[in-house]
Amino acid sequence: MKNEKFGFGIIGCGVIAPTHVKAIVACPEAELVACCDVDEEKGRKFAADNGGVAFFADYRQMVADPRVDVVCVCTPSGIHADCAIAAAQAGKHVFCEKPLDIDRGRMTAMIDACRQAKVKLGCVFQSRTYPDSIRIRQAIADGVLGKMTLGDAFLKDYRSRAYYQSAGWRGTWALDGGGALMNQGVHGVDLLLWLMNDEVERVFARADHKVRDIEVEDTCVACLQFKSGAFGTIIGTTSCNPGETRRIELHGDIGTIINTGNKITRWAIAGEPDGRAKQIEAGPANVEEGTTGDNKAVASQGHEFLVDDLVQAIKADRDPYITGESARKAVDLILAIYESARTGKDVVLAG
Ligand SMILES: NC(=O)c1ccc[n+]([C@@H]2O[C@H](COP(=O)([O-])OP(=O)(O)OC[C@H]3O[C@@H](n4cnc5c(N)ncnc54)[C@H](O)[C@@H]3O)[C@@H](O)[C@H]2O)c1
Repeated sequence: MKNEKFGFGIIGCGVIAPTHVKAIVACPEAELVACCDVDEEKGRKFAADNGGVAFFADYRQMVADPRVDVVCVCTPSGIHADCAIAAAQAGKHVFCEKPLDIDRGRMTAMIDACRQAKVKLGCVFQSRTYPDSIRIRQAIADGVLGKMTLGDAFLKDYRSRAYYQSAGWRGTWALDGGGALMNQGVHGVDLLLWLMNDEVERVFARADHKVRDIEVEDTCVACLQFKSGAFGTIIGTTSCNPGETRRIELHGDIGTIINTGNKITRWAIAGEPDGRAKQIEAGPANVEEGTTGDNKAVASQGHEFLVDDLVQAIKADRDPYITGESARKAVDLILAIYESARTGKDVVLAG
């Protein structure tokens, strides 16, 4: 730590890395001090473009550097745990991109490594930071919708062939860990679970690559039963053309809330027992499409919220806004969805 600022180092100088830089720059108590990439030319250019910070070709060396206090993990998803564990073992805090990792055992190992080293593990799911998301979660927790009956997530994105060819790890089991759900849809899966404040008990699913020549799924449908007894569905795809703005529909016996993009577009509640719910609030006519069709269209406000939160969590020695234990739930559900699609059977989630 220098001049009362936490030194941040980024592993992986690709598409999402500039969003981390924006968030670090926006935080008065944070400073970018280093970056790392196995692609030396790309990494050195990123270092030069961002104030000439230190460059490392090996993340083990970067995490050992005394200037680095916090490590941003922005690598392909299948090596998140390796980077996080190396950082934790070097005594560094971790700020990890979604998905936490793509493997149950590795997620457990990275969470344990951070707890054992007494470093913070803050995770990125920026949709949880938006004001309307926070409002919906609170309303459901307060029972505003009554007894929850359904939670549905419609996650219909578009990714071109060129997108899948843009980096060798995309669309592979080993490093992407899945497709439409594990990469793009994981945001919506996490948000559905978080808004419902519930966990899925069992799932039945179908998944396949319908149009893209990739190992993993480009289209998936899943039928959920929550622990509360509510049902739900997840439809995740990267082959809807042109792609639709994300929609999460939440229903209870006395009301409905619909979240489109990151905005509430319907809030309908019954005024009397057994009455018909009335629209109390309608959202804006146009909602942002976000990354529906473009993986580079990531707004930085969510990352800004989460970087600042992580700094405050370190200072106060409290858990970050999104812990590893919480972030892994979406991945655990997606892995169960894949298992069901593979076996053709209902899968009961552990725990
Ligand atoms: N929060 C969001 O909205 C959001 C958006 C995009 C990507 N992501 C996540 O960020 C991660 C990276 O995605 P991306 O689109 O930036 O990928 P990318 O391919 O553009 O960048 C990844 C970078 O990591 C580098 N790399 C690979 N292995 C490495 C290693 N062992 N050590 C150091 N560097 C290594 C690659 O050379 C590449 O430059 C993924 O996990 C993805 O899910 C999150």
